[in-house]
Amino acid sequence: MAREIVVSGASRGLGASIARMHLEKGDIVHLIVRKESDFVKEAEKRYPEKVRVHFGDIASVSLLENACREIIREIEHIDILYNVAAVFNEADKCGLNDLDFDIAPEIYNINALGPLRVLQQLDTVIDGKTRIVNVSSQSGSCEDTDEVTKYAYSMSKAALNFASKLYYREKHRGRNIIVVCPGWMRTDMGGAEADLDPDESAEGIIHLAEDMENLDPDWMFFKYNGSKIHW
Ligand SMILES: NC(=O)c1ccc[n+]([C@@H]2O[C@H](COP(=O)([O-])OP(=O)(O)OC[C@H]3O[C@@H](n4cnc5c(N)ncnc54)[C@H](OP(=O)(O)O)[C@@H]3O)[C@@H](O)[C@H]2O)c1
Repeated sequence: MAREIVVSGASRGLGASIARMHLEKGDIVHLIVRKESDFVKEAEKRYPEKVRVHFGDIASVSLLENACREIIREIEHIDILYNVAAVFNEADKCGLNDLDFDIAPEIYNINALGPLRVLQQLDTVIDGKTRIVNVSSQSGSCEDTDEVTKYAYSMSKAALNFASKLYYREKHRGRNIIVVCPGWMRTDMGGAEADLDPDESAEGIIHLAEDMENLDPDWMFFKYNGSKIHW
């Protein structure tokens, strides 16, 4: 039976790769996007029976709730939810002395609070069998980060990691949530020099989601290839 998949940030980059791969597997895929994109148009053309497009912005509940209501009207249960949407700002590539404190709240609002809004608004269609994948970054690992700058982005991802742990402890739904770093990808965010094609990361992340029950139950934070990252 076709599974119900939800992907935020599915207009391009990693989110589009994850959505396309699930469509190719025959799943029903709900895209949460701010606007039309080449990928959205292509998906609607190639998979008209399988793709559902919901316009929403994770930056505020008022901009997101309609998209989530549409999903709740259509389905009773989400099989896999991927929180992929996030932002980076080039102005964050600097040390503390040049840090623009005005960009940090926007990055935090979208990267740390945005996925929580999605989880809150979709709570009635999430249960112990739903697998949740919060896409974070190794930049948000206190122990394993290589970053020396990117304060706003790295701190926003550390906050998302913490939020994921709180969610896991609060909801008592068993092992149904992981946090993943997709690696450095050739997307608008990662740039052309990056190591990985987003399809390669997407393949690894989908494998982790589908194989969640076999992952170390005491570990939540993984790289796309399954290696462990410390908080
Ligand atoms: N690229 C990398 O090297 C890298 C490394 C580590 C972690 N990551 C993480 O991997 C994930 C995917 O990154 P990516 O490289 O694919 O990024 P990307 O190419 O910049 O795409 C970002 C996606 O997020 C969506 N988005 C941004 N703000 C949103 C909002 N307020 N509401 C709804 N959607 C929003 C964008 O939609 P629009 O098209 O409407 O802007 C777009 O679909 C992110 O969580 C990122 O932090 C990326």
